[in-house]
Formats: sequence, C-alpha cells, structure tokens
Amino acid sequence: MSQRKLRVGMVGGGGPANFFGGPHRRAILMDNTAELTAGALRSNPEESIASAKDLHFTRGYGDWKGMVEAEAKLAIGDRIDYVTIVTPNDAHFGPADLAAAHGIGVLCEKPLTTTLDEARRLQKTVEATGTPFVVAYTYTGFPMVMLAKTLVADGAIGEVRKVEAWYPQGWLANNLEQSGQKQAAWRVNPLKAGASGCGGDIGTHAYEFVRFVAGVGATRVQARLKSFVAGRALDDDFTAFAELENGGIATIAASQITIGLQNDNGFRIAGTKGTLEWSITDHNNLKHYQGGQPLKIYRLGAEYDYFPASIKPYIRVPSGHPEGFHEALANLHLTLQLTIRTKLGEQVPTPFAHPGIADGVAGMAFIEAAVASSKAEGEWTKVG
Ligand SMILES: NC(=O)c1ccc[n+]([C@@H]2O[C@H](COP(=O)([O-])OP(=O)(O)OC[C@H]3O[C@@H](n4cnc5c(N)ncnc54)[C@H](O)[C@@H]3O)[C@@H](O)[C@H]2O)c1
Repeated sequence: MSQRKLRVGMVGGGGPANFFGGPHRRAILMDNTAELTAGALRSNPEESIASAKDLHFTRGYGDWKGMVEAEAKLAIGDRIDYVTIVTPNDAHFGPADLAAAHGIGVLCEKPLTTTLDEARRLQKTVEATGTPFVVAYTYTGFPMVMLAKTLVADGAIGEVRKVEAWYPQGWLANNLEQSGQKQAAWRVNPLKAGASGCGGDIGTHAYEFVRFVAGVGATRVQARLKSFVAGRALDDDFTAFAELENGGIATIAASQITIGLQNDNGFRIAGTKGTLEWSITDHNNLKHYQGGQPLKIYRLGAEYDYFPASIKPYIRVPSGHPEGFHEALANLHLTLQLTIRTKLGEQVPTPFAHPGIADGVAGMAFIEAAVASSKAEGEWTKVG
C-alpha cells in the first residue's frame, strides 16, 4: 500500500521579501511525500491568511497559536503531522513549544531559540511528549557531511584531535540594515536575534560541524565577538577557541564582514590516523588525507558502496549529477518524516541521526558561553 503524504504546517516564510520559507517549501515538496497543509506565514493575521492562499497551502491561519490549536483538534491523517518553523529567532520557541506540547512534530530553524533558558524549557516539553524534532542545521543534510560523520565514528581518522570549522560571509560588511533590508534588520537586533548576531546566525552552523561530524562537544570556550560596523548592537564577526570533551581542541570562525565571501562554510578534522576535509565550495567531494598515501576523495553518487545503508536513502541521483543545498534541506525533512512514519507504525528506513532538540540546546549553550567569554575579555568559560 502506498504511504499517505504527510501534512506539513509552516510558521513564517510568507510575504514578498521573505528568504528561507521558499527553500523549505521546495524541500518539503521535493520527494512528493508531503504536502503544504496549513500556514501561519506572517505576523499580521490578514497577511498571514492571504499569504497561505497565495502559496497554495490548503488551510491558512491568522497566527501560529490558532493554527496549532485548531490542527491539534483534528484526527491524525487530517491534521498536520509536523510544523516547519521559519520565523526570526524570537518566534521559534512559542510555536515549537506549543506544537511539541500537542505531540505535533517540529522542524525548527536555527539557532533553536534566543536564550539557553528557553531552549532548555523547550527540551523539557519535547522530551516529555516524545515529539519528533529536527533542528535545521542545513549543512548536516549534505550526504558527504553525513559520510564524514560516519567515517569519524567508524574510526577512519582515529581519535579526533583538532577541528577547524569556518563560515565566512561578507553581506553585512556595511550598514545594510539602515537600507531597510529585512533579513539584515532583524539579524542585528538583539530582541529578535538573541545575544549574538553572527555567532547565532552562522557560528552555530560551524559549531554543529564540531558536534555532528567530529562527534565531540565543547566543554569550555574563549571567544572574541566583534561589531565592526559602527552602531551595530550585535557581533558581525565571531571567533571562538574551544576545548573538547575528549581533550581535543576546535577553532570556530564565523564572519559577516569578510567581503566577497558568500556562504563558504566547511571543516577540517584532524585525527590520530588522518584528516577529513569538506567545504561547500566543493560540496560533492569529501577529502581524506592519510600520511604518505595519495589523497583519497569520496565522491557523491547513489551507486557507490562506500555510502552505508544509513545514508543511501538520502542520495537521489547517480554519480555525476550534482545535489546541493535544497537536497540537503530536504534530507532534514526526510529524517523528520521517517521518524514520524516510524511512530505511525509504517515500515521505513531508519532515520539518520540528524541534529535534534539536544543539539539545538547545545548550540545555544555554546553561543551563551562565547558571549560571556567575549564580555570577560576572552576568559575561559564553561559551556552549558
Ligand atoms: N538553516 C539555514 O541554512 C538558514 C538559512 C536562512 C535562514 N535561516 C533561519 O530561518 C529563520 C528565518 O530567516 P529568514 O532569513 O527567512 O527571515 P525573513 O525575515 O526572510 O523571514 C521571516 C518570516 O517570518 C514571518 N514572521 C515573523 N514573525 C512571525 C510570526 N510571529 N508568525 C508568523 N510569521 C512570522 C515574516 O513575515 C517572514 O515571512 C531564522 O531563524 C534564520 O536563522 C536558516
């Protein structure tokens, strides 16, 4: 029997000037396994309903509270199976917590919340209700990044000693927020973005390379957050040095003032037996350096047997056909969908261990420690 399509609700992501709602909608629809059922897409109720209609959602709501409460009253199969939250950071906690309280799955954008306290409260709700939950650290959805995680866990590079993670951009090198550019305006506002601008927005992606791929979290950090653009309330440059749980070290460098750089993130993980390296600038290749050996390059392709069964369902085309950002985002939806289908009793592949609620909380703990360290002139600060 064919599987029914899962029903997805979306919070945020509407209106003409919106950025990341579009990629999520494309990701949700990519595999023809889910549909856009309910939307509370803007903060203004009339615009929210109009936007849901424009974007062909089956049901439009004036706000996320009304949406979650109304959907929760419907029978499973009619109601939304999960919500995708793609609002500015200050509007993550509310809908995520309410959906989780009703056992409705959540795919929440990063950073998880605006404070660690909120993140921990959300974690309590999610764990108490057993709600399927994924945090949208998009780059963890690239199959080559998933393969890197698997190789590290299987001991291919030995014990992890050092992780370098980077995420440079240049779009906030000038005072873009003054021009009314929406995405810039809320990202430099502490009330909307949280205690760190650059760190919360992209430093968290880089830190997730450390936790997700290398499999080790930070125990303490020294950090320097800086606002290069005059008058900006939040950092536009973020540099952290971390001590890791296993005694290793990590450097996490994110920047929004590196002119000319786009979203050129990546990582290098040095272990006792070798080094793995990946960058989005060459995202279909994963490099494995071994001393005295030719460089080994894993390449993307559904037919390659070096991809374990846990990753195969996440590769869509044979070798030579590039997959990229939208597929990576779709892979995070796929993991949430497989988790939900498993809960519904359907026979599906085991979902990959993509970032969940604990990873979102860890990202917030890292950011708060980095902010505190920077305020204390780079003092070592405990994470969490
Ligand atoms: N994972 C990634 O790679 C990635 C990339 C870009 C953005 N993001 C994250 O996505 C989120 C949104 O970022 P963006 O750049 O798309 O912002 P944006 O300003 O382009 O869009 C925000 C949307 O939320 C809506 N909105 C605001 N408050 C709302 C509310 N209370 N209820 C319903 N809708 C509301 C706005 O109308 C708008 O449609 C942020 O948390 C950001 O960090 C993640």
